[in-house]
Amino acid sequence: MDPALPAALRAAIDLALEGQGGGGLAQRAGRISEGYRQGRASSVLVRDGSDALAYALTRTPATYAATRRALEELRVLRPGFAPLSLLDAGAGPGGGGWAAVDAFASLSACTRLDHSPAFLALAETLSAHGPAVLSGASRLQADLADPGLAPPEADLVLAAYALTEVGPGRLDEVVGRLWSATRGIFLVIEPGTPEGWRRGLQVRALLAAGGGRIVGPCPHAGPCGLSAPDWCHFAQRLPRSRGHRLAKGAEAPFEDEKFFWIAAERPGAQAGPGPARIIAPPRAGKAGVRLRLCQPDGRVEDVEVTRRDRATFARARRLGWGDAFRRPEDQ
Ligand SMILES: C[S@@+](CC[C@H](N)C(=O)[O-])C[C@H]1O[C@@H](n2cnc3c(N)ncnc32)[C@H](O)[C@@H]1O
Repeated sequence: MDPALPAALRAAIDLALEGQGGGGLAQRAGRISEGYRQGRASSVLVRDGSDALAYALTRTPATYAATRRALEELRVLRPGFAPLSLLDAGAGPGGGGWAAVDAFASLSACTRLDHSPAFLALAETLSAHGPAVLSGASRLQADLADPGLAPPEADLVLAAYALTEVGPGRLDEVVGRLWSATRGIFLVIEPGTPEGWRRGLQVRALLAAGGGRIVGPCPHAGPCGLSAPDWCHFAQRLPRSRGHRLAKGAEAPFEDEKFFWIAAERPGAQAGPGPARIIAPPRAGKAGVRLRLCQPDGRVEDVEVTRRDRATFARARRLGWGDAFRRPEDQ
């Protein structure tokens, strides 16, 4: 899996940036990033096409990487899942669709839903020369919180960094609406903050109550074994382009995007107990490697895989934070 933006999307962003003043864009990007950190919504922060482009330059590489990683975990958990249609809810500049197409070559139809005309227009510009499923995507300008909204059904429904912007009082109805539109799997990506995790757990409970079966990252459907101040989240490393570094005033050639994901499926789709998941960075030592695992029975457990346990160690040493963990004898 490559967490970097596909070359065609990067080139489309670069093309859209031509003619935009670098300084002005850096200012916009700074204002938008700061606003998101303070918990403000896109509707306040992204007012026109230039703001949307500043988001695409500074945030899309990271939200793409996190979404692509969660989709990769889905592929591991459900190797037979081959969605034909995608609903990208709160699509923004459309990075989620690019990640989904990269993960699932089976996709042949896509609907982007967003209430922001600026984001929808930019998503169309950026995908104009992209894969046919994206250049021909349907556009739905709509408010997820609208009680009259019946989103089009899709095999894969994605809400990446979008439920964050739905008020807590509206979360259950919005999740219910998107779950109703889900024929296969509903995937939610949230920022990897304590608040994003708490919202993810709320979504998990709502989906389970609505008859959904949790696909991941949790290998079980019981209560979460973590409690504050601990929280479940993952990290995806991604390269930073020169333009991105300039816009963010950042030095390092990479960044680590922290995120949380939750996915549920319609019962009847293929099932099976989930594998344990590594929920913290593995710690390598002389004797072996130490893994913090969320176990299929709901326990959170620190497990030492020693070098003496050769087959398991050979596997464990290649794994990272967020990966599924199976002992060779469990397969
Ligand atoms: C932080 S951006 C995420 C964009 C994209 N999914 C990504 O991962 O980069 C949140 C998006 O959700 C959209 N959004 C927020 N609340 C919405 C609502 N009530 N109805 C429709 N779209 C909404 C915003 O316009 C924005 O495009």
